[in-house]
Amino acid sequence: MKIIEAIHEMHHAAEDLRQQGKRIAVVPTMGYLHDGHLSLIRVAKQHADVVITTIFVNPTQFGPNEDFTKYPRDLDRDKKLAASVESDILFVPSAEAMYPELYRTYVIVEQLSEVLEGKSRPSHFRGVTTVVTKLFNITRPHVAVFGQKDAQQAIVINQMVKDLNVDIEIIVVPIVREHDGLAMSSRNLYLSATERMQSTVLFRSLQLAEELIDRGERQSSGIISEMTKLITSQPSARIDYISLTEPATLQEVSTLCSGKTVLISLAVWIGTTRLIDNILKVIP
Ligand code: PAF
Repeated sequence: MKIIEAIHEMHHAAEDLRQQGKRIAVVPTMGYLHDGHLSLIRVAKQHADVVITTIFVNPTQFGPNEDFTKYPRDLDRDKKLAASVESDILFVPSAEAMYPELYRTYVIVEQLSEVLEGKSRPSHFRGVTTVVTKLFNITRPHVAVFGQKDAQQAIVINQMVKDLNVDIEIIVVPIVREHDGLAMSSRNLYLSATERMQSTVLFRSLQLAEELIDRGERQSSGIISEMTKLITSQPSARIDYISLTEPATLQEVSTLCSGKTVLISLAVWIGTTRLIDNILKVIP
């Protein structure tokens, strides 16, 4: 696996690969890789000749009081993990190179960036769409792979690609979960042993929502109130939001309609760690 740090070197390598007629996939990550990321790389391999995994803890997508400085970083570990699933290139740019002094340009996807995660983290998606655009321009991929874990991120990026006529296929890969249902995330590392046990309540509440829908509940308010009861039974849990939305527009749905798909998503603080999870449910 080749490690590239310089933007100009990555640019040239991508250009060379394109000239050789190779199909390039990019898997953007913030590192501290886990099985969820590795599944993205495996899927990327199925869609391209060359897979570029990027590792960059992007400062512009963290709010002022968020975990940018404590976000886990371990490049040696990431190198081994990325190589184990045969990523061809690891692109690891520096913050100074990505955002030099006098950096001025941001990409904003309106509306879709302002709800759910965007409400709690106001400049988050501006940072995500900006860095993803930069990574696309640097790695020149034909296809890019993202995880369903960040459902809204995938929706925002799909909208950006469509609106800006970006000629890149976006693939979204299902969530990888721990044995007890907790969605894999680099942030799970922050949880104490007791919090780790309580953190399964996110997925359990999504399973409860699914059961309620299967038993005939069609009012989002009824589903949210049962999920709330279950989550708040855990002493360390504090709900940021629970929402049932239409997946393409992220508009809240109050009454569920048969045959439609609803995105049930939530953000919950477990102690000082903010976790997110979601499911897509087809209404019977
Ligand atoms: O999903 C992530 O890890 C990040 O938001 C991404 C897409 C790598 C942009 O920094």
